[in-house]
Amino acid sequence: MKPHYMITTPIYYVNGSPHLGHAYTSIAADIIARFKRLDGYDVFFLTGTDEHGQKVEQAAQSNDQTPQDFTKEISHQFRSMADRLQITYNDFIRTTEERHIKSCQALWNKIAQAGHIYLGSYEGWYSVRDECYYGEDELINTSDGRKLAPSGAEVKWLKEPSYFFDLSQWQDKLLEFYNQHPNFVGPESRKNELLNFIKSGLRDLSISRTSFKWGIPVPNDDNHVMYVWFDALTNYISALNYPDNTELWRFWPADLHLVGKEISRFHALYWPAFLMAADIEIPKRIYSHGWWTVEGEKMSKSVGNVIDPLALIDEFGLDPLRFFLIREVPFGGDGDFSRRSLINRLNSELCNDLGNLTQRTLAQVNRNCNGLIPEIGMRNENDMDFLSQAYLLPERLREQLDRQALNESLDSVWKIIRASNSYIDQQAPWALKKTDLRRMEVVLRVLIDTLRVIATCLQPFMPESMGKLLNQLGVKAEERQLKDLAHPLPSGRNLPVPVGIFPRFVEK
Ligand code: ME8
Ligand code: MG
Repeated sequence: MKPHYMITTPIYYVNGSPHLGHAYTSIAADIIARFKRLDGYDVFFLTGTDEHGQKVEQAAQSNDQTPQDFTKEISHQFRSMADRLQITYNDFIRTTEERHIKSCQALWNKIAQAGHIYLGSYEGWYSVRDECYYGEDELINTSDGRKLAPSGAEVKWLKEPSYFFDLSQWQDKLLEFYNQHPNFVGPESRKNELLNFIKSGLRDLSISRTSFKWGIPVPNDDNHVMYVWFDALTNYISALNYPDNTELWRFWPADLHLVGKEISRFHALYWPAFLMAADIEIPKRIYSHGWWTVEGEKMSKSVGNVIDPLALIDEFGLDPLRFFLIREVPFGGDGDFSRRSLINRLNSELCNDLGNLTQRTLAQVNRNCNGLIPEIGMRNENDMDFLSQAYLLPERLREQLDRQALNESLDSVWKIIRASNSYIDQQAPWALKKTDLRRMEVVLRVLIDTLRVIATCLQPFMPESMGKLLNQLGVKAEERQLKDLAHPLPSGRNLPVPVGIFPRFVEK
């Protein structure tokens, strides 16, 4: 039986079209999901759209559409973007689906029956953009006397009857949980933030609203709809048919909820508290990555400074974009988007480093070995040292991806690529052609084997291009799992005439 792995992206608000920020999370999650499959796991990869709440209701209104029509259209855009990005999701959930509504109500009932929900009334500063209440002390006072949320969003004073979740009762249990599960929250900076927030004292959480209708009705009280975060977080189990115990439940608890840093608190604090109250297992890890900014400001639908990933795919291709987004910034930190750095990276690392290595190796095999995979032959100590570094890659990537160090893993691969370019320069197989044909074959075979490791490991990052490269290396479709690297390619296999995989781009 294969081991399980469940990974999720946030479900995205449908208050506007998808942009590069959403693409980023989905690509990162897809890389991890693909890597796990490559490594023999049975993976459940979930993504989808978050369609309720005041922010979405308002967006529909200003577009002169019903929330039903509006959400359907935008959700479709998110789904087609995921498809264009070749995101290998197993399920795409919409929170307006009946299956989700049923699960939310079941979760609500479970928590209410356990005595953790009560009716009260709420007054406070609410930000529609963040869908979040803030305490007075968290707000920013502007020079012209206005108050803003920590995110810079508008807030307004709201007073309404509300159901509450008794979050204040969970403070000690949560702290104990984090203590026992030191890897639950990553990166470390997010964990410190979270602990400080909890230690400053938890207030009970308002989990229903009466001032608008676009939400899931609270069981037995139609005047209230559920707070959009209660609704949204539940997607992770409604997709597994909660509360029905079907075979999908084997994936719970999720191994990883991958999110952006602004929603770390919802996932690392509210979600485990709800789950504890409902006596459901808590996911294994919440990892928050940083933000893509444009000229220093967070790229966001609400701000209106977004970059369209589909236009970038049209111009540069999907795999180069996937590569750049992950390669450019340390995962967990912020990055500023620039065309210049995109073009520089693609030219220097895909076209030069990897493209040249591939082209040089395969062209020589084609010309000087009749296009056949050469024999392994007699390897010397230097060959073995070099190769053993390459064969360590799968284990290194496993370890790095398990702690979501995505850019580090590309770093490890590029070290091998650069070492391979030095190896080919030192060994100069083109010169050996005139002096020692046997040795030339040994060297070219070392390079083919190294390229095979590289291409196999890079499949999750650049699936299409690495598929092409593996074809050119004579690796069959059923030989592309990590475990297949244990079996050498048979010599004498016929390789196709090599063609370049990565184009060079010119700055306009
Ligand atoms: O928060 N840089 O949805 P959302 C990097 N519906 N990532 C970005 C980004 C940026 N500039 N902008 C968005 C919600 N993202 C809720 C989530 S989950 C139960 C409910 C990515 O449409 C990042 O993953 O505001 C961020 O957390 C997510 O999109 C927020 O999308
Ligand atoms: Mg947001």
